[in-house]
Amino acid sequence: MKFYMPVKVFDEKDCIGNHSKDIALLGNTALIVTGKHSAFSNGSYDDTVAALKKENIKFFTFSEVEENPSTDTIFKAGKKYSSEKIDFVIGIGGGSPMDAAKAIALVLKHPEAGLDYLYDTSCDGSALPVVCIPTTCGTGSEVTGVSVLTRHDRHTKISMVHKVFPEYALIDSRYLSSAPYSLIINSSVDALSHLLESVLNSKADDYVRAVAYSGLKMWSKTKDVLSGEVKAGPEEFSCLMRSSVLAGMSIAQSGTSLPHALSYPLTYDMGIPHGKAVGYFLPGFLQAAPEKDRDGLLHLAGFIDLHDFSQYFRNVFGDMEIPEDELKRAFDAVKNNPAKMRSASFPVNEEILKSMSGAGTF
Ligand SMILES: [Fe+2]
Repeated sequence: MKFYMPVKVFDEKDCIGNHSKDIALLGNTALIVTGKHSAFSNGSYDDTVAALKKENIKFFTFSEVEENPSTDTIFKAGKKYSSEKIDFVIGIGGGSPMDAAKAIALVLKHPEAGLDYLYDTSCDGSALPVVCIPTTCGTGSEVTGVSVLTRHDRHTKISMVHKVFPEYALIDSRYLSSAPYSLIINSSVDALSHLLESVLNSKADDYVRAVAYSGLKMWSKTKDVLSGEVKAGPEEFSCLMRSSVLAGMSIAQSGTSLPHALSYPLTYDMGIPHGKAVGYFLPGFLQAAPEKDRDGLLHLAGFIDLHDFSQYFRNVFGDMEIPEDELKRAFDAVKNNPAKMRSASFPVNEEILKSMSGAGTF
């Protein structure tokens, strides 16, 4: 067994300011990578700039990362800043800016890299140091080496083959307090899916289970926030963020499984948010899992049984209508990927996958 999680995680109020000296150890010039809006309104960008100024670190800001960032965006940033002698990259936001920050850190380290480089295991996958500052509660990217990028040439999202683990994850759940409610729902369902998929995974071991079980218990404390029964305060925001970090640690070991693989075409073709797209396939995935495993996990997450779980999701997301041809496309993409078919901890044949992908549980 192996548990590899090399990221130094700091989780506290005023985290960025408290760790400016740690950030300064990474070099003299930083590139901040963000999306277009949220980092500038939730205080995370201002806190980062204040910390960099305090340590006399020169910085540039690339704020053009779109939702589900494309490889085109990565190379645009790489080209723009290749001559600026960047020492390290800071990704602020949800999964999109953090995943982009990792890929940009790799491209800045290897200016000769083209698209194939990101997907060639024989290439040097080292990158500039990365700092991740999550402002949503789902991706877990701050503690994984994964960078999922949109490939317009392939009409879907594909993870870069190189693993770029951040040097630091700076966690301050206050940044969640200004996030739109829909974003909190979508990202937290993503975290729940990470926890479940990492355990119901052929690569799961005792270490993964220990972390994921903890994450599920933490997630259960936020369940009523997503359904609107409880208004989130500092304690709930902290639980939302921590369950997401724990979920990230567990997928960093075992990876995700079938709901994630099935979800990518829905996000690419229909623009369905990642967490919602993954959530669509979760009940079908759990239905296919052995009952004893499934029920134990559902209890940890605060559900009575699968029916309770499906009902909850219907309340949170409402009815989701996915066209038959889209479900077929998702099914075909996974059916032809033997590694993904084997990723679940239980046997999955085409029949089971078909019921999972067209489950119609919602
Ligand atoms: Fe995810």
